[in-house]
Parts: sequence; C-alpha cells; structure tokens
Amino acid sequence: MSLKKYIRDIQGFPKEGILFKDITPLLIDPKGRAECLKILVDSLKGKQIDKVIGVESRGFFFGILIAQELNVGFIPVRKPNKLPFDTISASYDLEYGTDTLEIHTDAIQKGDRILIHDDVLATGGTAQAVCELVERLGGEIVQLNFLMEISFLKGREKIKEYEIFTAITY
Ligand code: PRP
Ligand code: MG
Repeated sequence: MSLKKYIRDIQGFPKEGILFKDITPLLIDPKGRAECLKILVDSLKGKQIDKVIGVESRGFFFGILIAQELNVGFIPVRKPNKLPFDTISASYDLEYGTDTLEIHTDAIQKGDRILIHDDVLATGGTAQAVCELVERLGGEIVQLNFLMEISFLKGREKIKEYEIFTAITY
C-alpha cells in the first residue's frame, strides 16, 4: 500500500522491544496528508455521517481533517480531566493497569450517525471504550476508521460488531 512510505519505523520506542510506527513523516507531507485523507473519506462513500470523533491525541490530526472534508461536527474524546463541561467516561485495560477516556455529554444527540477515527488500531481497548461512550449517549456508530491496524494484536475482535476501515495494515 502506497501510504506505507510515509510511516517511519522506530525500534525500541517508547520502550525496548516495541517497534513504533511514527506518523510524523505523513503529517509533514501535504501530498501524503491529502492522499491519506482521500482514502479515509472515500471509504465513507454513500454513508451519512453527522459527526466525527477524534481520539486524543493522535486521532485529532486526521479526525478534524475528515470532519472538515465532510462538513460535519468534530467531537474530541479526551483523556481524563481535560474536558471542561459535563462528561461521561469509560475505562479500558492496558498491559499494566487501566486508562480512561471522556466525552462531553452534550456532544452527541440520540440517533446521531457517528464516525470514530483514530490513528492506530492495536489491542482495540481504546476503540472499544470510545464505542461504549458513543452508545451510552445514544449515537449510532457508522464506521470506525484508522490510519493503520497492527493486525497481530487482534484489536478487531473487540469491535467486531462494527464496520471497520483501515488505510494500512501491518
Ligand atoms: C495509541 C494510539 C491509539 C491507541 C491504540 O494512543 O494512538 O489511540 O494507542 O491502542 P489500543 O488499540 O491497544 O488501545 P495512546 O494511548 O498511546 O495515546 P496518544 O494517541 O496520545 O499518543
Ligand atoms: Mg491514541
């Protein structure tokens, strides 16, 4: 897949034994960004989307671009204690411990058709927590899309009831 040329492998980041997929070469290249945005938006052809969610922090980059391209609202899902208004939260398991994500309670109206965007689908814990937030507020998840999927971590299995699109698979 042609987008792979914009992703840089960093061995041993953030800790030993991990091969990190660095998207900054994609972000810095306007042609790469446009190519990537087109692939993500084309995957939504024929689908009605009311709002796009971007997951803090790396889901914000293309999340806002997709929302702008679709001319719909953008909703940040954020790490704890970052959102100022009323929130609900969902927790998910990490290798050691748990993490939490939050959304504003007025961000989604019942029946809103939602696209969830993040940069990476790895274990799927993050995506599953975001799905829980959307459904608790009455939103309908039309698709989850990701720049890339780390397939051996089997994140898809946690969100298999939803439509998933990934631009790059490793
Ligand atoms: C990374 C990545 C995804 C998530 C995927 O985010 O950006 O959001 O992990 O992992 P999972 O499928 O195993 O849940 P991270 O929490 O490291 O934060 P960041 O986006 O702020 O860098
Ligand atoms: Mg992230």
